[in-house]
Amino acid sequence: MKNPFFNRDILSGGEYSQKDIDYLLDLTAKMKKMVEKKGGTDICRGKILTALFYEPSSRTFGSFVAAMQRLGGGFIPLQGVNNSSVAKGETLPDTIRTFASYTDVIVLRHAEVGSAKIAAEFSEKPILNAGDGIGEHPTQAPQDVFTILQTLGTLKNIHIVFVGDLAHYRNVNSLVKVLMLFPKVRLSFVSPAEAAIQPQLREYMKSHKHDFAETENLDEVLSSADVLYVTRVKKEYMTDVLYKRIQGKYIIDRKTVAKMKKKSIIMHPLPRVGEISVEVDLDERAVYFREQMRNGMYTRMALLASVLLKEVKV
Ligand code: NCD
Repeated sequence: MKNPFFNRDILSGGEYSQKDIDYLLDLTAKMKKMVEKKGGTDICRGKILTALFYEPSSRTFGSFVAAMQRLGGGFIPLQGVNNSSVAKGETLPDTIRTFASYTDVIVLRHAEVGSAKIAAEFSEKPILNAGDGIGEHPTQAPQDVFTILQTLGTLKNIHIVFVGDLAHYRNVNSLVKVLMLFPKVRLSFVSPAEAAIQPQLREYMKSHKHDFAETENLDEVLSSADVLYVTRVKKEYMTDVLYKRIQGKYIIDRKTVAKMKKKSIIMHPLPRVGEISVEVDLDERAVYFREQMRNGMYTRMALLASVLLKEVKV
């Protein structure tokens, strides 16, 4: 397969074509196998990543930095910008121009929707959007698709149920756009009315003629779910009043998962803050701490290598 990502920005889940996703899934599987066998490679020796995170992160930051090192590359880690010139008032475009001049790729997390797009306008190096406020998180989406394929074996005729705060969840916005490449995927969204999916996402699904259902009642869709995709209430993006109203509305515990199919999976991009009880962690359907989290590193190895190298050989 020809590498479709060389020198490309990744800003939104809607930018991936079916071919792009097939290429990424294939390369992610190869990265996984290679890491399991020998830990790493040096195909990205001489390349440097800037990990520029204005917002907190554990998994996205950690997996990108680990991915770059396992590819033999270097990195500038900015986990928080308080010690950079941002604290002196430097603008995003100027900060981006700086790191684009030293390094070969920039992974950016920022609180504002559209920030990655602005960064891309000012950078001659590829920008990978690692979360722009409540906008998008397109590097998590292939990781989640890979996890579904790895654990369920298929995306055909499967029913994916998203539950929680869907209004402020960038992962959901990006993942849904990628899942829509698979016409037989059934999508249901369960949330309090105040935290329902964003109007743009609703319009996107309608304009692509992809059916979906919205409800406040998890029990309506739980027993037919193949994937239960749980999300955190994103306190940082809402008023205290709204937080108090919607927090704790859906708690996934032993009783909830007892109503699910034997062959189904429970996913969560993490961090979880109480919305999945710890007792569920031991259920064999819980893949968030096992496959899903680790796959983030393999997907990011695939993404980094393919934006940095014309041809990726693993
Ligand atoms: C998410 C994020 O930051 O968007 N985490 C992640 O990248 N895995 C989810 C969250 O913060 O709840």
